[in-house]
Amino acid sequence: IKLAAIIPAAGTGSRMQSEQPKQFIKIQSKPLLSYTLAAIQRAPQVQRVFVAVNPQASALYPSWPAQVETVAGGASRAESVLAGLQAAAAQGFSHALVHDAARPCLPLEVLLDVIEQGTTQAQGAIVALPVRDTLKRSAMGSPVIQSTVPRAYLWQAQTPQVFAIEPLIDAINAMGSTHPELTDEASAMEHAGYQPRLVMGSYKNIKVTFPEDIELVSYYLKEEIT
Ligand code: CTP
Ligand code: MG
Repeated sequence: IKLAAIIPAAGTGSRMQSEQPKQFIKIQSKPLLSYTLAAIQRAPQVQRVFVAVNPQASALYPSWPAQVETVAGGASRAESVLAGLQAAAAQGFSHALVHDAARPCLPLEVLLDVIEQGTTQAQGAIVALPVRDTLKRSAMGSPVIQSTVPRAYLWQAQTPQVFAIEPLIDAINAMGSTHPELTDEASAMEHAGYQPRLVMGSYKNIKVTFPEDIELVSYYLKEEIT
């Protein structure tokens, strides 16, 4: 097993409405992305990190850590991931750990757990959390409740997601990297008939999406440092 990490970091962060894409926002004077890279590089199994970035945006991150290289991101998250997977495959990596640049608070034990499970199970593994709120279904464009969706056995997918690279590339290509339901790696694998394993995640592993999320991750990251 030769494991590479793929970090999609080529988004524009439209929901954040910040001046620069959210992965470059400074938290305690360091870009958010640097915390994500540090979190991933705590796993000794990760031999190399491929970060998918927009060529224009890479100037926002002046010095990359050792064992990190950049690839050009794409128009969708799946296309950015695919670019990283192809670079890793070309360098002989057998497995990939895909992790959103926008999740800087990944706990070490969760990371080690998904690596263990994703590299030993042929179907791969993803970090996820059991849904904890009550779920309501509405009709499109309507704020009226149609029904309550039983939440038993429902999970929220997070990253990291760990798979063998070759079947993952094939699965993304087969589904089509612009398919609207291809929102994580597991969905492509499922589409191809695989049954990836669910690994218990953490409520701290939030994806920075809206401005208020910055406060929360700043708090968690400070907790980690002190
Ligand atoms: N991403 C990417 N390439 C894209 C789109 C997204 O690499 N074309 C990355 C983002 O940088 C982020 C991760 O995928 O780290 C998860 O996506 P999301 O949270 O949706 O980030 P954005 O697409 O940047 O934000 P928004 O959807 O609000 O525009
Ligand atoms: Mg997005």
